[in-house]
Amino acid sequence: MKIMNKSKVGRNDPCPCGSGLKYKKCCLGKDDGSTEDKRTAYARKYKVRLKDEKAVEGIRIAGRLVLETLDLVEAVIHPGTVTDVINTLVHEHTVKKGGIPAPLNYRGFPKSVCVSVNEVICHGIPGERELREGDIVNVDITTILDGYFADANKTFFVGSPGPDARKIVNVARECLRLGREKVRPGNTIGDIGFAIQQYAEGQGCSVVREFVGHGVGFEFHESPQVPHFGRKGDGLTLVPGMVFTIEPMINLGERYLRVLDDDWTAVTRDGSLSAQFEQTILVTDDGYESLTPYDL
Ligand code: MF3
Ligand code: CO
Ligand code: CO
Repeated sequence: MKIMNKSKVGRNDPCPCGSGLKYKKCCLGKDDGSTEDKRTAYARKYKVRLKDEKAVEGIRIAGRLVLETLDLVEAVIHPGTVTDVINTLVHEHTVKKGGIPAPLNYRGFPKSVCVSVNEVICHGIPGERELREGDIVNVDITTILDGYFADANKTFFVGSPGPDARKIVNVARECLRLGREKVRPGNTIGDIGFAIQQYAEGQGCSVVREFVGHGVGFEFHESPQVPHFGRKGDGLTLVPGMVFTIEPMINLGERYLRVLDDDWTAVTRDGSLSAQFEQTILVTDDGYESLTPYDL
């Protein structure tokens, strides 16, 4: 019989406590660096539920369905498409594949997907609005499959974009890319927000503060919150097994918003364009894995 190792963490692996140091330079021998203790501590102190390999695989599979559905949506994005057609497509494809569209009836949301056009920041309700040449449209899909949640979105061009549309979509995409690059054990939630805010504001754009990224996987919205603004080193330290979204909402004008009388649709106060990209991100031992991966 093989003698059981005290820990599966190698001496030169990143320390599971999230310090960013090698295990041998950190918790090795101090005897409380086990993944089990970290899971308990994060749950107790921060209400963050770390994901084991089985949960990660479940979210990964749900994520594949989200991306497959987003690809189907992209094929119907053109001038003349009514946003409710996107809702029907997302609903029917998700159900056909054995999934559940998480938005439907979530806190009273009436549809199966959020569709947000131009000055709509997020939580747009699909309906009779027709897409027009030059519009930008964000489609945000959250799918429950086998009990696991994955959440992702993209902003698409309708026909050929004008300069403002091109600018805000490119800045929002780069914000997600830069935020994602900060995800590794030992970095903090604030490092992600800082990178996004610095870039967006440097481009003369603004970052929405009222809506943030979130833990995801066992539920739609879990701890922690992941602001897309902040300061280096602030907030929770990232540890392997954390799964959360990064989903920066970036405005071409000012950051302020207003919610319409439907109690959902968030629009820019100044009427300027707003764009967003979102992925579900796992913190791995040495960086990140997107569980809803697409190129940025
Ligand atoms: N998918 C959104 C997010 O990224 C949440 C939408 S809530 C809904 O967190 F009710 F509008 F669907
Ligand atoms: Co989300
Ligand atoms: Co989403």
